[in-house]
Amino acid sequence: MSGFSEFVYHDNELYVESVPLKQIAEEFGTPCYVYSRSALTKAYLEFDSAFSGRDHLICYAVKANSNIAILNLLARLGSGFDIVSGGELLRVIKAGGDPKKIVFSGVGKNIDEMRLALEANILCFNVESEAELNTLNQTAKDMGKIAPVSLRVNPNVDAKTHPYISTGLKENKFGIPANEAERIYQSAHQYAHIRFTGLDCHIGSQLTELEPFMQASSKMLNLLDTLQSQGLAIEHLDLGGGLGIRYTNETPPSIKDYVSALCASTQQVKQRLLIEPGRSLVGNSGILLTRIEYLKHTPARNFAIVDAAMNDLMRPALYDAYHEILPVARNNEEIKNYQVVGPVCETGDFLGHDRKLGLINGDLLAIMSTGAYGMSMSSNYNTRPRAAEIMVDKNTIHIIRQRETIDQLIATERILS
Ligand code: LLP
Repeated sequence: MSGFSEFVYHDNELYVESVPLKQIAEEFGTPCYVYSRSALTKAYLEFDSAFSGRDHLICYAVKANSNIAILNLLARLGSGFDIVSGGELLRVIKAGGDPKKIVFSGVGKNIDEMRLALEANILCFNVESEAELNTLNQTAKDMGKIAPVSLRVNPNVDAKTHPYISTGLKENKFGIPANEAERIYQSAHQYAHIRFTGLDCHIGSQLTELEPFMQASSKMLNLLDTLQSQGLAIEHLDLGGGLGIRYTNETPPSIKDYVSALCASTQQVKQRLLIEPGRSLVGNSGILLTRIEYLKHTPARNFAIVDAAMNDLMRPALYDAYHEILPVARNNEEIKNYQVVGPVCETGDFLGHDRKLGLINGDLLAIMSTGAYGMSMSSNYNTRPRAAEIMVDKNTIHIIRQRETIDQLIATERILS
């Protein structure tokens, strides 16, 4: 099994911390996401302690899982946040996050979002184009404010990950080429309402090797040197997120080794280091709990039709992503080759292909490593209310999001008069 030790079998029953998953299914129904507070805390503390004394800020990438209970626990541990929308900003504030620890990423921030973030006095805007910089300058001017800015540099590095989540190649829509960024930093005097405080990059997600991070970091150091020699007072270097997790047999570097390598490669840097991890903080802290509705055996295949679907967990359909699927109760049923699928009317609606499982109708299954980009990417496709979310803390069960109701789902729709 991948990840942390908070999801383990005792007497052939799968537990999260001290709670049997079966108990959660009985009390709260399925499908539901279940998180472990201990796993989340351990991951954060592994990041934090690996910086060993170095001036740093961990800005959790909210998009990975934006439940306010998760944001609140991270804020209590001292975390900062990387946001990509006004909505995420409001979530962080509601969760008690410190605006002075927020960086705002994304290629298409609109004026309303810029205004919200300027009003909140966030730490920094990670700006991705000259056009955006002009709009931010004007918006700050209108508000009588100065916007703190990092330019997001596109270092043209191959992250060696799924093409949909690779962001640091020159063909990608993200960031500004290093030579152009240098020119824009030099023209700082043209932007009366911008203060260049940082330098930023992010090359992709689910990276399983250190090498691309090292290439990006070395390119950023060159640029940082140049900017400093030109007298620009840069206060922080933001190296983005992207550390991969183990879903099946991947062997990503540990959090500690990753942070140590970043620190070593930036040894001569006096500025504060920022990182923006998402998946590596929450991915292995959560599972999706689902119940088998029907077993269906056709001449070609065995299907386990479960009550979770692509609307609850989009990663298999979208990226052909692999998530381990474990029985909540181990039994002695005959092992068969199953297609684990949801009730949505698409052949793309699968959670796992060709899984060797011994199943009984009504059994519970745990879709593992779904704490990141699971709930946050869910939808209401097929008018399916979104799942409940549960956080377990030792032997205590907290409901951190009620299951959506059909009434809530259609409440904002109107028929013509
Ligand atoms: N910073 C920026 C600017 C980002 O765009 C991202 C993720 C992160 C940080 C966090 O990256 P992480 O540490 O989580 O790898 N939905 C996809 C992942 C999309 C990642 C988008 N950007 C998936 O399910 O694999």
